Amino acid sequence: MLGICAAIFVLVGGILVISIVRFRERPDDDGVEPPQVYGSNPIELAWTVIPLLIVFVLFLVTTRTLIAIENATPPGDALEVRVIGHQWWWEFRYPASGVVTANELHVPVGRATFLTLESADVVHSFWIPQLNGKTDVIPNRVNRMWIEPREAGLYSGQCAEYCGTQHARMLLRVIADPPAEFDAWTKAQLAAAVSEASVQAGRDVFQSTACINCHRIDGTVADGVFGPDLTHLMSRDTIAAGAAPNNAKALHDWIDNPDAVKPGALMPAMQLGPTELDQVVAYLTTLK
Ligand code: CUA
Repeated sequence: MLGICAAIFVLVGGILVISIVRFRERPDDDGVEPPQVYGSNPIELAWTVIPLLIVFVLFLVTTRTLIAIENATPPGDALEVRVIGHQWWWEFRYPASGVVTANELHVPVGRATFLTLESADVVHSFWIPQLNGKTDVIPNRVNRMWIEPREAGLYSGQCAEYCGTQHARMLLRVIADPPAEFDAWTKAQLAAAVSEASVQAGRDVFQSTACINCHRIDGTVADGVFGPDLTHLMSRDTIAAGAAPNNAKALHDWIDNPDAVKPGALMPAMQLGPTELDQVVAYLTTLK
C-alpha cells in the first residue's frame, strides 16, 4: 500500500510541480487563457476507471494480509491467558497454572502469550499500544490475539471502547517478566493466602459482609466471581483498574466509599464502622 500510494504521490506531486514551474505567469504573457476542457468523455472515463482499478488492487492486497493475520497461529509454546472484560476492570485467568488475577497481566519475555478475549457484560476493547492493536472484547464471542513483548518491563494499556461511566478508568498493565521471575510470580500466585492470627478480626469482618458475594479469597468462604480475586491482592501495584495505588490508605478510602474514588463503580459501600474498616484493611494488606 505504501508503494502504491508513494507512486501516486510522486506522479501527482511531480505533475503539479512541473505545471507550476513551466506554466507560471510570465511578464511577456499575452493574457489569453489556455484552452478550457469541459465534458471530455475520455478524461472523465480515465479519472473514474483508473482510481477504481487502484482501489481494487489495494482491496486485494489488504484482504490478503487480513486473511494471513486471521489464519496465523501463535507459536506452539505460547502461554494461554483468558482475558475477561468487566465494567470496569480486567480479569486474567491462566488455564494451565490456575492463576487468577486482575488488571495486571504478568507474561514471560521471549515467549508469546495467546489471549482469548471475552466480556462479562458490554463491549470493551483490549489495547496495549506498545504490544498490540485494539481488539474488541464482545459479549458472547471469543476474540483471539497474541502478544510477544521483547523487553522486560511495564506496558500500560487502556480499555479502548466506550463501556460506561468508568470507561476512562479501565486501565490495565502488562508486566513482562524474565522467565525465572515469571515462574516465581506464578508460584507465589498459587501459594495459599496467608492467614495471620493478628488480622483474624479483619478476616472475620470480611467473611461476614457481602464482600464474599463478589470477591474470592482462596481458603476463605469468599468465592465470588463478580469482582476481582483478592487472594494475592497485595501482589498488584494498583486497585480499581488503575484508579488508585494499592496501599493501606487507598484501600481504606476505596472500601469506605468506592463511589468517591471511582464514581459509578459497581462495588457498593459496605457501611463499615471505623474499627471494622481498619480491621478489614489490615487483613487485606496481608494478602501478599
Ligand atoms: Cu471497558 Cu471501556
